[in-house]
Amino acid sequence: MDFKNRDIISINDFSKEELLHILKVVKQIENKPKNNLLKGKLLATLFFEPSTRTRLSFISAMEQLGGEVLGFADSESTSRQKGESLWDTIRMTEQYADAIIIRHPLEGSGRLAAEAASIPVINGGDGSNQHPTQTILDMYTILKTKGKLENLHVGFVGDLKYGRTVHSLVMALSHFSPTFYFIAPDALQIPESYLDELFQKKIEYNKTSDLTRFSRELDILYVTRIQKERFPDPLEYEKFKDVYTINKSFLQNVKKDLKIMHPLPRVSEIDKSVDATQHAAYFEQAAFGIPVRKALLALVLGKVK
Ligand code: CP
Repeated sequence: MDFKNRDIISINDFSKEELLHILKVVKQIENKPKNNLLKGKLLATLFFEPSTRTRLSFISAMEQLGGEVLGFADSESTSRQKGESLWDTIRMTEQYADAIIIRHPLEGSGRLAAEAASIPVINGGDGSNQHPTQTILDMYTILKTKGKLENLHVGFVGDLKYGRTVHSLVMALSHFSPTFYFIAPDALQIPESYLDELFQKKIEYNKTSDLTRFSRELDILYVTRIQKERFPDPLEYEKFKDVYTINKSFLQNVKKDLKIMHPLPRVSEIDKSVDATQHAAYFEQAAFGIPVRKALLALVLGKVK
Protein backbone atom coordinates (compact mmCIF):
# COMPACT_ATOMS: atom_id res chain seq x y z
CA MET A 1 0.00 0.00 0.00
CA ASP A 2 1.35 3.42 -0.90
CA PHE A 3 0.32 6.49 1.11
CA LYS A 4 2.85 8.88 -0.49
CA ASN A 5 1.31 12.37 -0.94
CA ARG A 6 -1.97 11.20 0.59
CA ASP A 7 -3.98 13.78 2.60
CA ILE A 8 -5.38 12.74 6.00
CA ILE A 9 -8.60 14.69 6.25
CA SER A 10 -11.41 12.35 7.29
CA ILE A 11 -11.26 8.85 8.73
CA ASN A 12 -13.98 7.98 6.19
CA ASP A 13 -11.38 8.38 3.42
CA PHE A 14 -9.65 5.17 4.65
CA SER A 15 -10.79 1.58 4.17
CA LYS A 16 -10.60 -1.02 6.92
CA GLU A 17 -7.56 -2.56 5.20
CA GLU A 18 -5.84 0.83 5.02
CA LEU A 19 -6.50 1.53 8.71
CA LEU A 20 -5.09 -1.88 9.66
CA HIS A 21 -2.05 -1.24 7.47
CA ILE A 22 -1.42 2.13 9.18
CA LEU A 23 -1.67 0.45 12.61
CA LYS A 24 0.88 -2.16 11.46
CA VAL A 25 3.30 0.62 10.45
CA VAL A 26 2.76 2.35 13.83
CA LYS A 27 3.76 -0.86 15.58
CA GLN A 28 6.87 -1.23 13.41
CA ILE A 29 7.90 2.37 14.10
CA GLU A 30 7.20 2.05 17.82
CA ASN A 31 9.33 -1.10 18.03
CA LYS A 32 12.15 0.10 15.79
CA PRO A 33 12.27 3.88 15.23
CA LYS A 34 14.61 5.09 12.48
CA ASN A 35 16.07 8.36 13.64
CA ASN A 36 16.99 9.87 10.26
CA LEU A 37 13.92 8.75 8.35
CA LEU A 38 12.64 12.30 7.75
CA LYS A 39 15.96 14.11 7.52
CA GLY A 40 15.69 17.03 5.09
CA LYS A 41 11.87 17.18 5.38
CA LEU A 42 9.93 20.15 6.77
CA LEU A 43 6.50 20.09 8.43
CA ALA A 44 4.36 23.25 8.65
CA THR A 45 2.15 23.34 11.76
CA LEU A 46 -0.75 25.75 11.26
CA PHE A 47 -2.81 25.95 14.46
CA PHE A 48 -5.74 28.37 14.28
CA GLU A 49 -7.10 26.83 17.52
CA PRO A 50 -5.41 25.90 20.81
CA SER A 51 -3.68 22.53 21.15
CA THR A 52 -1.20 20.86 23.46
CA ARG A 53 -1.04 17.19 22.46
CA THR A 54 -1.63 17.29 18.70
CA ARG A 55 0.78 20.14 18.00
CA LEU A 56 3.54 19.05 20.37
CA SER A 57 3.39 15.37 19.44
CA PHE A 58 3.61 16.21 15.72
CA ILE A 59 6.61 18.46 16.42
CA SER A 60 8.22 15.81 18.59
CA ALA A 61 7.54 13.03 16.06
CA MET A 62 8.99 15.08 13.19
CA GLU A 63 12.11 16.09 15.12
CA GLN A 64 12.72 12.60 16.54
CA LEU A 65 12.80 11.33 12.93
CA GLY A 66 15.35 13.97 11.92
CA GLY A 67 12.90 16.36 10.24
CA GLU A 68 12.27 20.03 11.02
CA VAL A 69 9.21 22.11 11.82
CA LEU A 70 7.96 25.65 11.16
CA GLY A 71 4.60 27.20 11.86
CA PHE A 72 2.44 28.96 14.40
CA ALA A 73 0.42 28.12 17.47
CA ASP A 74 -1.59 31.32 17.47
CA SER A 75 -2.99 32.79 14.27
CA GLU A 76 -3.16 36.26 15.87
CA SER A 77 0.47 36.71 14.82
CA THR A 78 -0.17 35.84 11.15
CA SER A 79 -1.36 37.74 8.09
CA ARG A 80 -4.83 36.33 8.71
CA GLN A 81 -5.18 39.47 10.84
CA LYS A 82 -4.71 41.53 7.65
CA GLY A 83 -7.49 39.61 5.93
CA GLU A 84 -5.57 36.82 4.15
CA SER A 85 -7.81 33.88 3.25
CA LEU A 86 -7.14 30.32 4.37
CA TRP A 87 -6.71 29.33 0.71
CA ASP A 88 -3.92 31.89 0.20
CA THR A 89 -2.27 30.98 3.52
CA ILE A 90 -2.07 27.37 2.35
CA ARG A 91 -0.81 28.35 -1.14
CA MET A 92 2.01 30.25 0.59
CA THR A 93 2.83 27.58 3.16
CA GLU A 94 3.22 24.87 0.55
CA GLN A 95 6.19 26.83 -0.84
CA TYR A 96 7.97 26.49 2.51
CA ALA A 97 7.32 22.90 3.62
CA ASP A 98 6.89 19.27 2.53
CA ALA A 99 3.68 18.63 4.50
CA ILE A 100 1.09 20.63 6.47
CA ILE A 101 -0.78 19.86 9.69
CA ILE A 102 -3.71 22.23 10.19
CA ARG A 103 -6.20 22.75 13.03
CA HIS A 104 -8.99 25.22 12.35
CA PRO A 105 -12.40 25.95 13.91
CA LEU A 106 -14.33 25.69 10.63
CA GLU A 107 -15.75 22.30 9.62
CA GLY A 108 -14.39 21.45 6.18
CA SER A 109 -11.26 23.60 6.58
CA GLY A 110 -8.97 20.55 6.33
CA ARG A 111 -10.59 19.52 3.05
CA LEU A 112 -10.28 23.07 1.70
CA ALA A 113 -6.60 23.17 2.68
CA ALA A 114 -6.01 19.85 0.92
CA GLU A 115 -7.64 21.22 -2.24
CA ALA A 116 -5.44 24.32 -2.11
CA ALA A 117 -2.18 22.42 -1.52
CA SER A 118 -0.15 20.11 -3.73
CA ILE A 119 1.72 18.70 -0.70
CA PRO A 120 0.12 16.32 1.85
CA VAL A 121 -2.28 17.98 4.31
CA ILE A 122 -3.16 16.43 7.67
CA ASN A 123 -6.33 17.54 9.46
CA GLY A 124 -5.52 18.16 13.13
CA GLY A 125 -9.17 18.89 13.90
CA ASP A 126 -11.75 20.91 11.95
CA GLY A 127 -14.44 22.31 14.24
CA SER A 128 -16.82 19.61 15.49
CA ASN A 129 -16.24 17.48 12.41
CA GLN A 130 -13.18 15.18 12.44
CA HIS A 131 -9.82 14.53 14.13
CA PRO A 132 -8.49 11.56 12.15
CA THR A 133 -4.98 11.31 13.64
CA GLN A 134 -6.52 11.22 17.13
CA THR A 135 -8.69 8.35 15.91
CA ILE A 136 -5.70 6.35 14.71
CA LEU A 137 -4.02 6.79 18.09
CA ASP A 138 -7.32 5.87 19.81
CA MET A 139 -7.47 2.68 17.71
CA TYR A 140 -3.86 1.92 18.52
CA THR A 141 -4.61 2.38 22.24
CA ILE A 142 -7.54 -0.03 22.00
CA LEU A 143 -5.40 -2.57 20.17
CA LYS A 144 -2.60 -2.29 22.74
CA THR A 145 -4.83 -2.38 25.82
CA LYS A 146 -7.51 -4.88 24.69
CA GLY A 147 -5.47 -6.91 22.20
CA LYS A 148 -8.14 -6.57 19.49
CA LEU A 149 -10.48 -4.18 17.70
CA GLU A 150 -13.29 -6.61 16.81
CA ASN A 151 -16.54 -7.16 18.75
CA LEU A 152 -15.95 -4.68 21.56
CA HIS A 153 -18.64 -2.96 23.65
CA VAL A 154 -17.68 0.71 23.48
CA GLY A 155 -19.34 3.52 25.45
CA PHE A 156 -18.99 7.19 24.60
CA VAL A 157 -19.90 9.68 27.32
CA GLY A 158 -20.10 13.47 27.47
CA ASP A 159 -20.41 15.88 24.58
CA LEU A 160 -21.21 13.60 21.67
CA LYS A 161 -22.72 16.43 19.62
CA TYR A 162 -19.66 18.64 19.33
CA GLY A 163 -16.90 16.11 20.14
CA ARG A 164 -15.01 15.55 16.87
CA THR A 165 -12.91 12.72 18.31
CA VAL A 166 -16.12 10.78 18.97
CA HIS A 167 -17.36 11.31 15.42
CA SER A 168 -14.13 10.03 13.87
CA LEU A 169 -13.77 7.06 16.23
CA VAL A 170 -17.36 5.89 15.79
CA MET A 171 -16.84 5.76 12.03
CA ALA A 172 -13.50 3.95 12.32
CA LEU A 173 -14.70 1.32 14.80
CA SER A 174 -17.81 0.64 12.74
CA HIS A 175 -15.54 -1.56 10.53
CA PHE A 176 -14.98 -3.90 13.50
CA SER A 177 -18.47 -5.13 14.54
CA PRO A 178 -18.79 -3.11 17.76
CA THR A 179 -21.75 -2.52 20.04
CA PHE A 180 -21.98 1.18 20.88
CA TYR A 181 -23.45 2.94 23.93
CA PHE A 182 -23.99 6.70 23.53
CA ILE A 183 -24.32 8.31 26.97
CA ALA A 184 -25.20 12.01 26.89
CA PRO A 185 -27.97 14.47 27.75
CA ASP A 186 -30.46 14.66 24.87
CA ALA A 187 -29.13 18.08 23.83
CA LEU A 188 -25.58 16.69 23.45
CA GLN A 189 -26.36 13.31 21.88
CA ILE A 190 -24.56 12.05 18.81
CA PRO A 191 -25.93 13.64 15.59
CA GLU A 192 -28.56 11.61 13.72
CA SER A 193 -26.35 11.45 10.61
CA TYR A 194 -23.96 9.10 12.49
CA LEU A 195 -26.83 6.94 13.72
CA ASP A 196 -28.16 6.70 10.14
CA GLU A 197 -24.74 5.38 9.04
CA LEU A 198 -24.68 2.84 11.86
CA PHE A 199 -28.19 1.70 10.96
CA GLN A 200 -27.12 1.22 7.32
CA LYS A 201 -24.12 -0.82 8.48
CA LYS A 202 -26.28 -2.88 10.87
CA ILE A 203 -24.21 -1.82 13.89
CA GLU A 204 -25.98 -2.23 17.22
CA TYR A 205 -26.18 0.91 19.35
CA ASN A 206 -27.92 2.15 22.49
CA LYS A 207 -28.65 5.72 23.58
CA THR A 208 -29.14 6.89 27.17
CA SER A 209 -28.57 9.87 29.44
CA ASP A 210 -27.96 7.56 32.42
CA LEU A 211 -24.23 7.11 33.08
CA THR A 212 -24.61 3.84 34.98
CA ARG A 213 -27.27 2.08 32.87
CA PHE A 214 -24.83 0.09 30.72
CA SER A 215 -21.69 0.36 32.88
CA ARG A 216 -21.35 -3.42 33.39
CA GLU A 217 -21.44 -4.08 29.62
CA LEU A 218 -18.49 -1.93 28.61
CA ASP A 219 -15.00 -2.95 27.45
CA ILE A 220 -14.05 0.66 26.67
CA LEU A 221 -15.49 3.90 28.01
CA TYR A 222 -14.45 6.89 25.89
CA VAL A 223 -14.97 10.02 28.00
CA THR A 224 -15.13 13.49 26.45
CA ARG A 225 -15.01 17.05 27.71
CA ILE A 226 -18.06 19.26 27.27
CA GLN A 227 -16.80 21.39 24.36
CA LYS A 228 -17.22 24.88 25.83
CA GLU A 229 -15.80 26.62 22.74
CA ARG A 230 -18.51 25.17 20.45
CA PHE A 231 -21.58 26.33 22.43
CA PRO A 232 -23.39 29.26 20.80
CA ASP A 233 -24.88 30.16 24.21
CA PRO A 234 -22.55 30.24 27.29
CA LEU A 235 -25.54 29.61 29.59
CA GLU A 236 -26.16 26.29 27.85
CA TYR A 237 -22.54 25.30 28.58
CA GLU A 238 -23.03 26.19 32.27
CA LYS A 239 -26.03 23.87 32.36
CA PHE A 240 -24.05 20.86 31.12
CA LYS A 241 -20.44 21.45 32.19
CA ASP A 242 -20.48 19.06 35.17
CA VAL A 243 -23.13 16.66 33.91
CA TYR A 244 -21.04 13.47 34.35
CA THR A 245 -18.01 12.63 36.47
CA ILE A 246 -16.25 9.28 36.34
CA ASN A 247 -15.09 8.53 39.89
CA LYS A 248 -14.16 5.57 42.05
CA SER A 249 -17.75 4.81 42.99
CA PHE A 250 -18.62 4.47 39.25
CA LEU A 251 -15.76 1.94 38.95
CA GLN A 252 -17.36 -0.38 41.50
CA ASN A 253 -19.86 -1.52 38.88
CA VAL A 254 -17.71 -2.08 35.80
CA LYS A 255 -15.81 -5.00 34.26
CA LYS A 256 -12.39 -5.58 35.83
CA ASP A 257 -10.71 -4.97 32.49
CA LEU A 258 -12.72 -1.89 31.46
CA LYS A 259 -10.38 0.69 29.96
CA ILE A 260 -11.22 4.38 30.29
CA MET A 261 -10.00 6.55 27.46
CA HIS A 262 -10.14 10.33 26.97
CA PRO A 263 -8.58 12.38 24.13
CA LEU A 264 -7.72 15.06 26.75
CA PRO A 265 -7.68 17.79 27.91
CA ARG A 266 -10.02 16.88 30.78
CA VAL A 267 -11.82 19.38 32.94
CA SER A 268 -14.05 17.75 35.58
CA GLU A 269 -15.32 14.63 33.78
CA ILE A 270 -12.76 12.18 35.24
CA ASP A 271 -11.86 12.50 38.90
CA LYS A 272 -8.09 12.41 39.57
CA SER A 273 -8.57 9.43 41.89
CA VAL A 274 -9.24 7.32 38.76
CA ASP A 275 -5.74 8.03 37.38
CA ALA A 276 -4.03 5.44 39.58
CA THR A 277 -6.52 2.62 38.84
CA GLN A 278 -6.01 -0.19 36.34
CA HIS A 279 -8.87 1.30 34.30
CA ALA A 280 -7.13 4.56 33.36
CA ALA A 281 -5.67 4.43 29.84
CA TYR A 282 -5.78 8.12 28.93
CA PHE A 283 -2.17 9.09 29.64
CA GLU A 284 -0.88 6.01 27.84
CA GLN A 285 -3.27 6.95 25.00
CA ALA A 286 -1.72 10.44 24.73
CA ALA A 287 1.78 8.90 24.66
CA PHE A 288 0.83 6.81 21.62
CA GLY A 289 0.56 10.14 19.77
CA ILE A 290 4.29 9.93 19.09
CA PRO A 291 4.55 6.57 17.24
CA VAL A 292 1.22 7.22 15.50
CA ARG A 293 2.27 10.62 14.19
CA LYS A 294 5.74 9.36 13.26
CA ALA A 295 4.09 6.64 11.18
CA LEU A 296 1.63 9.02 9.50
CA LEU A 297 4.38 11.50 8.59
CA ALA A 298 6.63 8.73 7.25
CA LEU A 299 3.74 7.32 5.19
CA VAL A 300 2.55 10.56 3.57
CA LEU A 301 6.14 11.70 2.95
CA GLY A 302 6.79 8.42 1.13
CA LYS A 303 9.46 7.10 3.51
CA VAL A 304 7.62 3.90 4.42
CA LYS A 305 4.97 1.88 2.64
N1 CP B 1 -6.51 15.35 21.98
C1 CP B 1 -6.19 16.56 21.47
O1 CP B 1 -6.49 16.86 20.32
O2 CP B 1 -5.55 17.38 22.35
P1 CP B 1 -5.09 18.86 22.02
O3 CP B 1 -6.35 19.68 21.83
O4 CP B 1 -4.30 19.30 23.23
O5 CP B 1 -4.28 18.83 20.77
